[in-house]
Formats: sequence, C-alpha cells, structure tokens
Amino acid sequence: MIYLPLIMGSLGLKDFLSLADLDTKQIQGLLSRAFDLKTAKKADCPLIGKSLVLIFRKPSMRTRLSFEVGMYQLGGQAIGLSMQGIGLGEREPVKDAARVFARYAHGIVLRTYAHTEVLELAQYADIPVINGLDDLEHPCQALADIFTIQEKKGTLKGLKLVYVGDGNNVCHSLMQGASKVGMEMVVASPRGYQPKKEIVKKIQGSRVKGQVSVVEDPREAVAGADIIYTDVWTSMGREKEAIKRKKIFKDYQLNSKLVSLAKKDALIMHCLPAHRGEEITDEVFESKNSVIFDQAENRLHAQKAILVELLGG
Ligand code: CP
Ligand code: NVA
Repeated sequence: MIYLPLIMGSLGLKDFLSLADLDTKQIQGLLSRAFDLKTAKKADCPLIGKSLVLIFRKPSMRTRLSFEVGMYQLGGQAIGLSMQGIGLGEREPVKDAARVFARYAHGIVLRTYAHTEVLELAQYADIPVINGLDDLEHPCQALADIFTIQEKKGTLKGLKLVYVGDGNNVCHSLMQGASKVGMEMVVASPRGYQPKKEIVKKIQGSRVKGQVSVVEDPREAVAGADIIYTDVWTSMGREKEAIKRKKIFKDYQLNSKLVSLAKKDALIMHCLPAHRGEEITDEVFESKNSVIFDQAENRLHAQKAILVELLGG
C-alpha cells in the first residue's frame, strides 16, 4: 500500500461513532494518516488551541490515556470530566449538555452503555463526537487493530481474521471494519452469545470487499487463520453474568492446542484488559506471535489520525 499524505478534514467525516458509517476509502485514509503520524520524524501540532472533552461512564485506561496523550502531542488539550461531577443525563439532559460542550470545546469522546446515547450526543453537538466504546461498538479499537494487522502483515486483503469468544462490541466493530478492507472474518461463539444478527446481516447484504460468517465451533473457525482475536467473556456492565459465562465459554479459550490449528505465523490479538486463564492462556498471551501490546500502542496513532481528521479542519 502507498501512503499518501492527507489534507486535514479531507475524508468528510463529522463524527466517529461506528465503522459502519465509514466507507473503504475513509478507513484507508485514516490508516494512511495513522502511519504518517506514527512514522513522522518531527512533531506536528495541528490542534493548537483545540480542546477535547472526555466523558467515561465505564472504566478505562487505554482509551483515556491515548486520547489525552494524543491531544497533547498534536498541540491541543484534553479535559476529562467526571461523570459524577457533570451528571450527564441526570443533572441535565444529554441534548442540553451537548450544545454547551460545543460552545467551549472542539470535540467530545464518550464511553457509555447505550449506543443511542452516543447518537443523541452527536445529533445535538455541533462539534465532532467520538465513540470511546459503548455496549454495541468499539470503533477506535477496531481501527487501531486493523492498522496493527496491516503493519504486521503488510496487507489486509484476503487475510482470514478469526474472532473467538463473545460476540460483543469489539467483535461488532471488527466485523464492520474488516469486511470493508477486504478481510475474511469468521466469528466462533456459543449460541446465544453470537454477534447481533442485524449487524451480521447488514454486512453480508452490503457490497463490501470481504465477508463475515458466524460459526459455533472454534476449531473449525481457527483452521488456516492469519489472525486470531479474542476479548473478555464478560464485558463491562454484565458483571453479574460472569460465573455463568465462564461455564458457557470454557471451550472458547485461546490455548496452544487451539492456536496450533491456525497458520504458523498467525497473529494473536486481544484488545485488553485480558483475563489470563479465561479467554486466553498465559502461554498464548506471551507467545512470540502475540501483538497485543502493539495493538495498545496503535490506539494512540489511530486515534491521532481520527483527531486530526475531525478537529483539524
Ligand atoms: N481496550 C480498551 O479500550 O481499553 P480501556 O478499557 O482500558 O480503555
Ligand atoms: N468488550 C470489552 C472491551 C473492553 C475494552 C468491554 O466492553 O468490557
């Protein structure tokens, strides 16, 4: 792939809420900019004077830190607001807060439960809104993961990405992104915990370059994989189901036996935080094919690309 420098704001995006909203060219444009930012010899500060508001209804380490560091490196400022302090949706409605944020700041990152809350914020705020994870999607993670795969494999088209485990927010965003850049994605999840049918059907019915399929058997899925990806069995907000889920997902662990069915050079991926001994063994987590900490680093570069696109114009 040839990386071309992009003009800020040239991709025509107002928000970054879901990879379903982006076309192939827009995703490739962000990947290209992430590469430029990661490999730049000298610092560029296109966001001097710009402020980004960060709001988290759920815990976060990577997302919060990478957005804060990213804004600093681009010359701007990040302001973390405590949910308790602002009482979003309680002290005042989201639609009022959205219009106030837009009078002071230049962008908002929201991590929350309901996807509809992210959509409402974006509807009422005249400034860009970035989805920092909700119950349905985690688009920043998926963009960084696709960037990591391209960096490690040198290409995306035709690669087989196998996701093993809970058909959750991370899985949904990966499906939406991977299919648009020409990857084949196979999801192996137990019945009742598979990705949302509407999301799968929408991808299968669209004219995207790659395809997605959902199966139950992780061994069948992993055969010939170029990348094996997993995430926690219990996502934030579902903690009460953790014991039940441990039993249901026990055959969906990334262990050396399962991984041996994939290609010898298959990448091992996890968005973190990980629960060693549950969805992934310590041995696989620490194996030479694991690119888990590169994924974490690439959150910074991918999100800087998003920030330059949305706030840089
Ligand atoms: N992967 C990820 O989003 O990490 P945090 O929950 O720590 O932000
Ligand atoms: N699926 C996980 C991702 C954490 C980054 C969760 O939502 O808790």
